[in-house]
Amino acid sequence: MTMEPASGVPLAMFRDATSLDEAGASRAFASQAAIMPVNEKAAREPDLVVRGLRKSFDKTTRVLDGVDFTVPAGQSVALIGANGAGKSTLLRSCLRLIEPDAGDVRLLGRDMRSLKARELRELRAEIGFVFQKHNLVPRLSALTNVLHGALPRSALARPWFQSCAPKSLRDEALACLERVGLGHVAARRADKLSGGQSQRVAIARALMQRPRLMVADEPVASLDPSSGEEVMRLFADLIRREGLTLLFTSHDLSHAIAYADRVIALRRGSIVLDAPSSELNVATLRALYD
Ligand SMILES: Nc1ncnc2c1ncn2[C@@H]1O[C@H](COP(=O)(O)OP(=O)(O)OP(=O)(O)O)[C@@H](O)[C@H]1O
Ligand SMILES: [Mg+2]
Repeated sequence: MTMEPASGVPLAMFRDATSLDEAGASRAFASQAAIMPVNEKAAREPDLVVRGLRKSFDKTTRVLDGVDFTVPAGQSVALIGANGAGKSTLLRSCLRLIEPDAGDVRLLGRDMRSLKARELRELRAEIGFVFQKHNLVPRLSALTNVLHGALPRSALARPWFQSCAPKSLRDEALACLERVGLGHVAARRADKLSGGQSQRVAIARALMQRPRLMVADEPVASLDPSSGEEVMRLFADLIRREGLTLLFTSHDLSHAIAYADRVIALRRGSIVLDAPSSELNVATLRALYD
């Protein structure tokens, strides 16, 4: 059950690449990039291409055992799998937050291996992160926390408070809060917000980065089922409406099916299922855990 990339993606490129060794795959990507006109390349290149990704933390266990997949722009992908299957390691390796042992990652059109530290920082600034723990600064207002999403693209090194941030940025931060339905709590301290509200502020902070791609590691795992459902629905609707790409992990199989276009399941570091969510049900996915 392997899904093809969505239409508009240069399919032949990836069919060819999958039959090559890792070095060959890199050359294929490089030569394709070189011959494609810039506009066409921007329109057609997938947001994420992962080939032959391997990672071990010790000599005995391979946490990622040759992972291959492609995420076209605008697609929403759920990564599922048991505890320890390698989901977070895969997300982190794609962003080079940890160094993979082998394999190629092309993220937003750039070869991750070839990037220098500054280029890597600039690239990560284009990616919105949402984690299980929202990591808001408790004593600061919701609006100031959202403003901090603009720091990676700002010339200023220190975090702003809402009172001293430029008006254009304050307006933008307020608009981000309104997009998650929380304009009315802009002035409230983060430690006075509910869990669901805090996670929505974290989503607004990620939006403030003006991301093309959102990466979310168990974004609603800390919330009760009803808040989790509400936040996940809001998040997925927002991603769809704004045409962003989303890669998220979840242990909630119904969320994976309802809120992703496609589900990828990992077992012991290998992909064991990659299918459109429209072809899946919870029972099929549950069976993968047995
Ligand atoms: N920094 C690290 N050092 C050593 N081992 C690690 C490290 N990070 C992850 N691991 C190991 O790699 C394996 C995969 O971990 P990972 O966190 O990627 O799994 P996961 O699928 O995200 O699990 P969960 O659903 O519990 O979040 C686990 O056995 C874990 O102990
Ligand atoms: Mg994890």
